[in-house]
Amino acid sequence: MFQRIDPKNIKDNVFSLIGDQWMLVTAGTEEKCNTMTASWGGLGVLWGAPAATCYIRPQRYTKEFLDREEYFTLTFFGEEYRKALALCGSKSGRDVDKIKECGFTVRTADCGAPYFEQARLVLVCRKRFVQEMDPDRIPQDVKEKWYPDQDYHTMYIGEIVEAYCQA
Ligand SMILES: Cc1cc2nc3c(=O)[nH]c(=O)nc-3n(C[C@H](O)[C@H](O)[C@H](O)COP(=O)(O)O)c2cc1C
Repeated sequence: MFQRIDPKNIKDNVFSLIGDQWMLVTAGTEEKCNTMTASWGGLGVLWGAPAATCYIRPQRYTKEFLDREEYFTLTFFGEEYRKALALCGSKSGRDVDKIKECGFTVRTADCGAPYFEQARLVLVCRKRFVQEMDPDRIPQDVKEKWYPDQDYHTMYIGEIVEAYCQA
């Protein structure tokens, strides 16, 4: 049972929540959506509203869904889903039905954005800003370490329009 919450009442430490526990970035429709694991991103405030940021490399199948849709979701899970998140972070939805393999149940927010019933925390985001990282603005040492293939991330910032946690 999900309970709607005010994002201001999220008690988790954001660095651990995203960086250590990881999240799923999901977009699409109830019938056809895709999800991937992400451990880079942020939660904060933009344009006077709660906001979430994620960074997606160009080759991710999920990116096609993020680019097409107005909404995306970020979902966070208990430790018992670590293996599922590892799978969603190592296989592409182009090759595998990850949602089926993980046994996830797709639910949709009021706006139609897909998320998973098994999540402990759900953030429904309305895409408000998309920007490809400009390699000219990335420090040389970062480029050498993280972008040997020049696959620079695209940054997505969404306004958090709904938030739910397990009651
Ligand atoms: C722990 C972890 C964190 C990850 N974080 C990101 C991320 O922040 N951005 C990204 O583009 N890929 C990230 N990935 C890689 C994608 O999850 C992975 O390439 C996935 O298979 C893409 O699936 P898709 O092709 O179905 O979209 C991460 C993978 C793992 C295991």
